[in-house]
Parts: sequence; structure tokens; C-alpha cells
Amino acid sequence: MEKLIAPSILAADFANLQRDIEMVNQSDADWFHIDIMDGVFVPNISFGMPVLEAINRHAGKVIDVHLMIVDPDRYIKTFANLGADVLTVHYEACTHLHRTLQAIKAEGMRAGVAINPHTNVSLLEDVINDIDLVCIMSVNPGFGGQSFIENTYKKTRQLKEIILDNNASTQIEIDGGVNSQNAKKLVDAGADVLVAGSFVFKSQNPKETVTELKQIVNS
Ligand code: DX5
Ligand code: ZN
Repeated sequence: MEKLIAPSILAADFANLQRDIEMVNQSDADWFHIDIMDGVFVPNISFGMPVLEAINRHAGKVIDVHLMIVDPDRYIKTFANLGADVLTVHYEACTHLHRTLQAIKAEGMRAGVAINPHTNVSLLEDVINDIDLVCIMSVNPGFGGQSFIENTYKKTRQLKEIILDNNASTQIEIDGGVNSQNAKKLVDAGADVLVAGSFVFKSQNPKETVTELKQIVNS
């Protein structure tokens, strides 16, 4: 299966958002990764609905929304209407995760679950067949530009085993500190989608950096 690259718009230049969205459209990237933070679940506030609505007007690829918010059930319908194709909630923010996953799918979106660095992948075993995508956080959520947590490789291998054991078709996404040094090792461990923010947008030539990552993960 082809491995996917999802540039994180959090690292884009918000004063030139349309330019950066066009760069992603023209690049070898597969998805737009959109980080929504509420200042409660994580100690930062990113951007909200009006910005996503503007992004959606220009984005020509899959929109992968990562909700770092408490009580995400309140906004499932809203994000469906805003054009989310994949909607990811945090395991740590959901009391009734199974119900939340069904609600996301009922709105026609693919259902994702993100786990913080301290959350063991085995906690997802009983719902793995209900999850379209697991986002393993390889940094503590809330900020771009942090360094990659090495324990992520082990978590990725463990999760891949759970997916195979259960005959599930769940994709594994890695989010945080991804770069050309760790990308290959992550896909070898079982990752399907790599999110990259700073490594793409802070590089000299973001479009070429996406091509470089895309080639590394599919080599
Ligand atoms: C962190 C976000 C990430 C972030 C990744 O809370 O979920 O998506 O934008 O940024 P980098 O690639 O810079 O670590
Ligand atoms: Zn994210």
C-alpha cells in the first residue's frame, strides 16, 4: 500500500495561507492535516471553524482534522459540514469512545482516534475494528516543532500487531517531529500516514521537501 504524507497546516504562514494551501495542492502530498486546539485539552489554541471553512475552499485533497479538544462530540456535525474527510478525536478526551466513533461515521466521515505519548496502544484493542485511523502522537500535543519521542517506533509495531491480529483495516498515522531521518523507520514499523509540519513548511523548498518525504516512505 502506498504510504501517505500529510503536511500540517499549523506550521504554514497564516498570513499567506492560500499560497501555502496551493503549495500542498501542487505537491506530492496526499492529505491536509488540520490541528484544532481548544486551550483546555492542550495548552494552546490554534484556529477554529472560520479558518477551516477558508482552508476547505482552496484545499484540493483529503482533509484530515485532528481535534485536540475536550468533549468533541459537541462538534462532530459541525466538522462534517466544514468538509472534514477524516475526523480524529483523542482517546483521552472521550468517555464513550465507541459511541463517538459511530457518530463520526454516521456523518459520512472516516473515524480516527489519537493517543497521547503515555497512552498504551492496547487500550484500543476492543474498538480496533471500529477505527479507520489511529494517530499515534510522537510529541505531546499542543505545539509544532517539538522533537520526536523515540518510544513511538515500539508503539507503532505493537499497534500494527493488534491491527493484523484482528483483521482490521485501520491505518496508522504518526504525528509530531516527523522528518527525513525518522520517516523510513516509521513506515518500516507499520506507519501508513506521516504528518509533517515544521519539517515541510520551515524548509527552503516545502514542495521539494514533500517530494523527498514521499520518496523516502515509498522506497
Ligand atoms: C501537534 C500537532 C501536530 C503538529 C506537528 O500537537 O498535532 O500535527 O502540527 O508539527 P511538527 O511536524 O512540527 O511536529
Ligand atoms: Zn496533529
